[in-house]
Amino acid sequence: MPATRSFLARLGLGLLVAGTVEAAPLSIELPAETARLAPSELPGYAIANQKCTLCHSADYIQLQPPNMSQSQWRAEVAKMQHAYGAPVDDPQADAIAAYLADAYSGKPRAKAVATAVATPPAPPAPAIEDARGLLQDNGCLGCHALDHPVVGPAYQAVAARYRNAPNALQSVTQHIRQGGVGRWGQIPMPPFAALTDTQLKALAEFILGQPSP
Ligand code: HEC
Ligand code: HEC
Repeated sequence: MPATRSFLARLGLGLLVAGTVEAAPLSIELPAETARLAPSELPGYAIANQKCTLCHSADYIQLQPPNMSQSQWRAEVAKMQHAYGAPVDDPQADAIAAYLADAYSGKPRAKAVATAVATPPAPPAPAIEDARGLLQDNGCLGCHALDHPVVGPAYQAVAARYRNAPNALQSVTQHIRQGGVGRWGQIPMPPFAALTDTQLKALAEFILGQPSP
């Protein structure tokens, strides 16, 4: 499969690209382009923008080999759905695969780039963006998915449990910092004492903001 590069290599590149984008104004240079999904008129573009950057940046997609067919992209999206818990239903997955096969076909994208400059997609809210990076950097996604239990509970289930709880943000922040066991089962969650208050708050807000299962 295309997953030949190591996670760390991808992550490193992701950070590099993210850093470049923050520093530079929007332009048609390559780094800015890889950090976001290639714009398109296809309906799958909006869905992919919503769903495919929840856990990692768009350059995971950019780094796939060019000329992947629609069915290869559909298989990749299926992996995101089933192995990693991407909250995407099958009609949405079909639309995303059609969009990705078209937008990442390797054919010249001058027109798409021009569209990007004219109507840049709105950047996501900073707190959410931080949380996604933190989830990735700290290995949270090795044990948690958004919508199904892995080693730890689904983040949607955590949000549902705390929906009406007083001091939900404070409790969840503390539980991420200190780790613990017995709230969801007999497997312990490791402590993350090195995270700053701001990072913990971004994570807890992101998790508590998940929709009900
Ligand atoms: C719930 C979290 C999550 C969502 C949502 C998600 N992904 Fe992923 N994605 C992952 C994880 C975890 C990896 C693997 C990271 C690693 O091992 O390098 C990954 C890796 C990838 C890769 C690299 C190749 C591979 O198979 O490892 C591609 C391409 C990719 N995702 C595309 C997508 C697309 C397209 C979508 C939207 C349908 C999407 N992702 C949504 C979690 C997610
Ligand atoms: C080694 C696996 C593992 C990793 C890594 C991990 N978790 Fe957990 N997490 C768990 C388990 C297991 C539980 C359930 C613990 C329990 O039953 O009390 C849990 C519980 C939680 C809860 C629910 C706490 C509550 O108040 O009910 C949250 C929120 C959470 N994890 C967030 C995170 C975040 C954020 C990260 C990354 C910074 C992370 N987890 C990394 C395994 C993990």
